Amino acid sequence: MMLRDVSSCNTYNYGDALYWDTRYVQEAGSFDWYQCYSALRPYVRHCVSTSSRVLMVGCGNAVMSEDMVKDGYEEIVNVDISTVAIDMMKRKYEDVPQMKYLQMDVRDMSFFPDESFDAVIDKGNAIALPHVLFLVIFHSLTIFFSPHSDLLWDIIWSLM
Ligand SMILES: C[S@@+](CC[C@H](N)C(=O)[O-])C[C@H]1O[C@@H](n2cnc3c(N)ncnc32)[C@H](O)[C@@H]1O
Repeated sequence: MMLRDVSSCNTYNYGDALYWDTRYVQEAGSFDWYQCYSALRPYVRHCVSTSSRVLMVGCGNAVMSEDMVKDGYEEIVNVDISTVAIDMMKRKYEDVPQMKYLQMDVRDMSFFPDESFDAVIDKGNAIALPHVLFLVIFHSLTIFFSPHSDLLWDIIWSLM
């Protein structure tokens, strides 16, 4: 009988860059966790104007940003802790000037000057960060606005 080695599949590894690098080598296509842009579009369009400077944290190999650009978004900076994911996405979208990909740990965003972004979208990345685990209940979509944080609560309530 074949037993599956589940030791590397527990959520404790979700904050580990090596875990994600290994996973993205094995699963090289594209994959959107939880929801695709089409399902989230009403909330995103309601809260984020297409001219916003958007930061997408823990982008992985999702097509969310690509779909947002197709929908008119002009500037999306995507970051992820996985070098494998970022290299893959940089190659895939090298001809799409609206999207940038940077390898970065979201726990240290000092690379960006203050007020670099109008909106930050986190889809699924929060599960990798135990201290913000509670965000998972919000369908793992979180949008933070510096000037309009009340909108975050509108979204949360509408999703619950
Ligand atoms: C569950 S996946 C979600 C991927 C994508 N956002 C989606 O919705 O399909 C979590 C992602 O967060 C990334 N991640 C985990 N910890 C991170 C950290 N500290 N900084 C940046 N990205 C991180 C992982 O590499 C992985 O791509």
